[in-house]
Amino acid sequence: MKDIVLTGDRPTGKLHLGHLVGSISQRVELQNSNKYEQIYIEIADAQATTDNSGNIQKVKENVIEVALDYLSCGIDPKKCTLFLQSEVPELSDLTFYYMNLVTLARLERNPTVKQEIKLREFNNRIPVGFLTYPISQAADITAFNANIVPVGEDQLPMIEQTREIVRTFNRLYGETLVEPEAVLPKNKSCLRLPGTDGQAKMSKSLGNCIYLSDSAAEVKRKVMSMYTDPNHLKVEDPGNTKDNPVFIYLDAFSKDEHFQKYFKNEQTGEIEYNNLDELKAHYERGGLGDMKVKKFLNYVLEELLQPIRKRRRELEKNIPKVYQILFDGSNKARAVAEETLKNVKKAIGLDYREDKGLINKQVEMYRLKHEQETKEAN
Ligand code: TRP
Repeated sequence: MKDIVLTGDRPTGKLHLGHLVGSISQRVELQNSNKYEQIYIEIADAQATTDNSGNIQKVKENVIEVALDYLSCGIDPKKCTLFLQSEVPELSDLTFYYMNLVTLARLERNPTVKQEIKLREFNNRIPVGFLTYPISQAADITAFNANIVPVGEDQLPMIEQTREIVRTFNRLYGETLVEPEAVLPKNKSCLRLPGTDGQAKMSKSLGNCIYLSDSAAEVKRKVMSMYTDPNHLKVEDPGNTKDNPVFIYLDAFSKDEHFQKYFKNEQTGEIEYNNLDELKAHYERGGLGDMKVKKFLNYVLEELLQPIRKRRRELEKNIPKVYQILFDGSNKARAVAEETLKNVKKAIGLDYREDKGLINKQVEMYRLKHEQETKEAN
């Protein structure tokens, strides 16, 4: 059997460079490998409501942003099924039955959920829907028989919980669900891109993101004001490249061709730095200024972002078409989820319409009962 891939994002904002290295570019690679039976990409709007119940409008308005970002990065709706979670109500039915297989204590132990609860300052007012979203995520994955789930590190506890639900279900009700596996991005330095301010993570709330839809001027402004090594005050000072976001971004995005192109001396034709190692070595021994490195990073990012920006502009001119892609994908996804729900209900025994034996047995039971009553009455 060929592999089935499912992954997704909550639509709470536009996508940024962290998403691109962490997940989107990997999805495009998977898609273009043509090795997979199916690739599902879910815009998890229902999951996003679990901590945005007072602001559904934000979730709703960001669906198009995420879809535009996906498509402009090269996600091809002919090769991937792009769908909206809320358009597949079967997922809620599945969640309902899976809820019986998970204890409250297990939910409260999920480290990612725990961290999110702290971050959102729910204190003792945790919405039940939020605490249980890992169960609904298990429904997202199992509904499509996905065995491969490409995600970031923070999502590993969700996949682990899904695996537990699958094993419990199959043990109780017979082999029905497929046990998925998480696949992390290959390049370890790409697992998590720091913010432009040097904080551990790009995050909308911290305002330290470079968005895929930022204009060239915005990208340049953000790059030029990026946090670097705070001890690298003068050009001659030795610098640190390890915790320096400018160099971490270069690790993630620069290729040797960029060095040949942007560090070539116009007159002599000589190449000043052949690769990132040479650039880092100079920075570390001192004598290389931040501005020069940042200018280079800006060129590298522009090469990456320009085509994405251009495709996005084209797509922005046909918003109804983008919605149509989501609706078509949702219809396709729904048909598959319907089938899984049918199998799940049959496995647990809630299959009244199919269970002819049940009806015949009960017909017979009542026939006998009435026969007995008639006999006794006479
Ligand atoms: N929880 C994921 C996130 O916050 C989004 C998501 C929802 C997801 N359903 C999924 C990811 C299923 C992978 C598989 O980014």
